[in-house]
Amino acid sequence: MSTPIEYIKANQEKFKQELFDFLRIPSVSADPDHKEDVHKAAEFVARQLEQIGMNNVSIEKTDGNPVVLGEYLEAGSDKPTVLIYGHYDVQPPDPLDEWVSAPFEPTIRDGKIYARGASDDKGQSYIHVKAIESFLKTGTELPVNVKFIIEGEEEIGSPSLAPFLLANKERLACDMVLVSDTAMFAKDTPSITYGLRGLMYLEVEVTGPNRDLHSGVYGGGVQNPVNALCEMISKLKDENGVIQVPGFYDKVRPLSEKEREAYASLPFDKEAYLKTLDIDEVYGEDGYSTLERVSGRPALDVNGIWGGYQGKGAKTVLPAKANAKISARLVPDQEPKEIYRLIEKYLHEIKPTGVRLKVSEHHGGHAVLVDLDFYGLKAAAAAFGEVYGKEVLFGREGGSIPIVAEFGKILDATTILMGFGLNSDAIHSPNEHFHLRDFERGMQTSARFFELLGDYVE
Ligand code: BES
Ligand code: MN
Ligand code: MN
Repeated sequence: MSTPIEYIKANQEKFKQELFDFLRIPSVSADPDHKEDVHKAAEFVARQLEQIGMNNVSIEKTDGNPVVLGEYLEAGSDKPTVLIYGHYDVQPPDPLDEWVSAPFEPTIRDGKIYARGASDDKGQSYIHVKAIESFLKTGTELPVNVKFIIEGEEEIGSPSLAPFLLANKERLACDMVLVSDTAMFAKDTPSITYGLRGLMYLEVEVTGPNRDLHSGVYGGGVQNPVNALCEMISKLKDENGVIQVPGFYDKVRPLSEKEREAYASLPFDKEAYLKTLDIDEVYGEDGYSTLERVSGRPALDVNGIWGGYQGKGAKTVLPAKANAKISARLVPDQEPKEIYRLIEKYLHEIKPTGVRLKVSEHHGGHAVLVDLDFYGLKAAAAAFGEVYGKEVLFGREGGSIPIVAEFGKILDATTILMGFGLNSDAIHSPNEHFHLRDFERGMQTSARFFELLGDYVE
């Protein structure tokens, strides 16, 4: 009988083909037209968990998309229990015409799997399913207790998952949560993420006259909603990149000297950064480095803006309304709801006269910081470093996984963010991909992590 690592090495082709089947399901949670596909993806995950030999596999109904559970608790109560979290939903594939190969027809090019969800998060969650399989199918005792929770609403803010955790606290009880839904610092660089930013997302509608007007007849005499919205947006930040919303920074936990030193010691190649993004300069809050700006400090951005004539040629019109979607990335200890209220209040204060303003809130989530001394984190770093043959970097990331803070609050569990993606994987963009090498090494790292964790004695 082979060892788990040997089993993983011997079954690459099978794992790849299975992942391809998973990636072919267009489980876009944001699009109601894909409801059926979302359910298909949940069934795929459940069937997989059954096939590898997990117990009590179930597809749990929620008010939104189903949650898939499974468990294998044979290691005994003196061994840690790891709850493995991932999401089977994906972002919409738009803009479709920019994909080199179709988003839901996985294709290998240059050692990478191209498909929507390849990295975020089907490929990464599948890593752990296969790592567990490598124990159960080789008759190797799984050294820790394992539970899976794979959800289908992460890309829309996980609205049903926190209530689900609350209602199923006992069933989901664990010593730690393991998540692979983040990125490594650089290629071939094992990295443990110890911080994620939170999120506040809102939408603004500015309305003026009761119809689009002739811009010659009325222009200059009636407030233009698009102008008004731009005026308001320009007042959100000053020329030094500092957010101007009163109270916005009140609860921001400042970066300590030690943390700033840690940031400074991380590799950051500015020229390469500029080049991959095709921009001529970085931007951000005065006094902070780029790595600090994109993960240790909050940010405020317009995500979308529309209004007025968008067709061909020139139409002289004074539009009746304008809209924008605006989001803030938050750091500890900012409260998403509070930040929403502060921005809403500020927008009303700076609204020019002659237009009406409606602000509404979308989903949000809290930032997280993981205690670097947590034993699970040490086992994860040891496994990661061993498989990649390199020293592990610890860093914070700018993206958000809203449920992670809730794991701490509701399940009282620390989350280990063991990401195998790369920031260059084009997640949420056309041509999303995942390196086959990281898919392979990820499975080995996961298996090794369970082995090391099983040996751990307090
Ligand atoms: N996997 C990402 C989050 C992520 C990406 C963290 C890269 C760190 C590095 C996740 O699927 C995601 O896209 N989250 C959303 C949250 C939102 C939809 C509530 C985000 O960050 O925009
Ligand atoms: Mn994700
Ligand atoms: Mn995502």
